[in-house]
Amino acid sequence: MTYFRSPLFVPFCLIILFLSAPYSYGDFVEDSPPNLTYHDGALLTGTITVNFIWYGNFTESQKSILTDFIVSLSDGSVKTEPSVASWWKTLNKYYSNTGISFPTLTLGKQITDSSYSHGDSLNISDIPPIASRGPQKNAINVVVTSADVGVEGFCISRCGLHGSGPGSSMNRFTYIWFGNSSTQCPGQCAWPFSQTDDGPPTAPLLPPNGQAGTDGMVVNLASLLAGTCTNPFGDGYFQGEPETPLEAATACPGIYGKKAFPGYAGGLLLDPTNNASYNAHGVNGRLFLVPALYDLSMFGCATTV
Ligand SMILES: *[C@@H]1O[C@H](CO)[C@@H](O)[C@H](O)[C@H]1NC(C)=O
Ligand SMILES: *[C@@H]1O[C@H](CO)[C@@H](O)[C@H](O)[C@H]1NC(C)=O
Ligand SMILES: *[C@@H]1O[C@H](CO)[C@@H](O)[C@H](O)[C@H]1NC(C)=O
Ligand SMILES: *[C@@H]1O[C@H](CO)[C@@H](O)[C@H](O)[C@H]1NC(C)=O
Ligand SMILES: *[C@@H]1O[C@H](CO)[C@@H](O)[C@H](O)[C@H]1NC(C)=O
Repeated sequence: MTYFRSPLFVPFCLIILFLSAPYSYGDFVEDSPPNLTYHDGALLTGTITVNFIWYGNFTESQKSILTDFIVSLSDGSVKTEPSVASWWKTLNKYYSNTGISFPTLTLGKQITDSSYSHGDSLNISDIPPIASRGPQKNAINVVVTSADVGVEGFCISRCGLHGSGPGSSMNRFTYIWFGNSSTQCPGQCAWPFSQTDDGPPTAPLLPPNGQAGTDGMVVNLASLLAGTCTNPFGDGYFQGEPETPLEAATACPGIYGKKAFPGYAGGLLLDPTNNASYNAHGVNGRLFLVPALYDLSMFGCATTV
């Protein structure tokens, strides 16, 4: 079992680096550009179901924000750019470089655990058994814990993680976990919809789906999906040590629009009906905020706006 660290947690050294060299789409960081390399291992490919295990107390409206995001990844019906689907295709190059075909992510099963089967205070080691209730093959099982569920280490070192179950190569399932950050550690895990703990104090952005906690979860889900597909078993695309890798989204922390720097998410689109910030259109007329991804063809962090 392997874990990869949170998408949103910005190590202090990176903050220093970004202060001296902010960058966005196609820009370069002179000091130390992200340099993701392929380690010759497996990438997720084929048709992959994204299954949700709702651990705790969720409303249908909360669930539909996250499930609509998954449908938006591969739905060609959204014609308004920038779209979630075109954001996701930033990862095309990771596949074309290796000859592995780009995966199709579809919304799979939804499993509800509203009886808190492992209690309301979880250890990280509880996550894989909960995730294993989803399909065992060609699957990303997403464990979402509600705001009232404590998870050891949440905030301290991570806002979420991804890993894989037992077995060999493509025969093992992958999983993602993240919690509801709005009550537990909004400054780290729900930024930029919440005041940051680390950077200069700036006004939080208004979330496109009206809930800082849930829109923060979309950012976590988006980042972890990119890492799961391109580095599912620890030998795909990453930079740095395999135990603490920078992956497709984590190589670009805190960047959502052009000219981002710590404490500033970058230039975003504004929804005139409520002044919420977003950078991607999805299905059902939804608006989302998605993180920058490292673009292998641009050698920089690509944002949709
Ligand atoms: C990126 O990393 C690879 C492998 O570690 C290395 O060969 C290459 O020179 C690096 N490129 C840059 C621009 O640092
Ligand atoms: C679930 O959440 C709703 C509001 O979000 C609350 O009214 C209800 O009491 C909660 N149920 C449990 C079992 O915590
Ligand atoms: C996250 O928690 C906040 C505060 O309790 C709540 O308003 C929001 O609806 C929750 N979102 C999800 C997806 O549970
Ligand atoms: C969490 O699990 C690890 C290893 O399984 C164990 O060492 C640690 O004590 C556990 N923490 C708590 C709070 O149960
Ligand atoms: C959006 O923000 C502008 C400038 O602060 C303000 O004038 C306008 O009333 C706001 N619109 C809504 C719908 O809140």
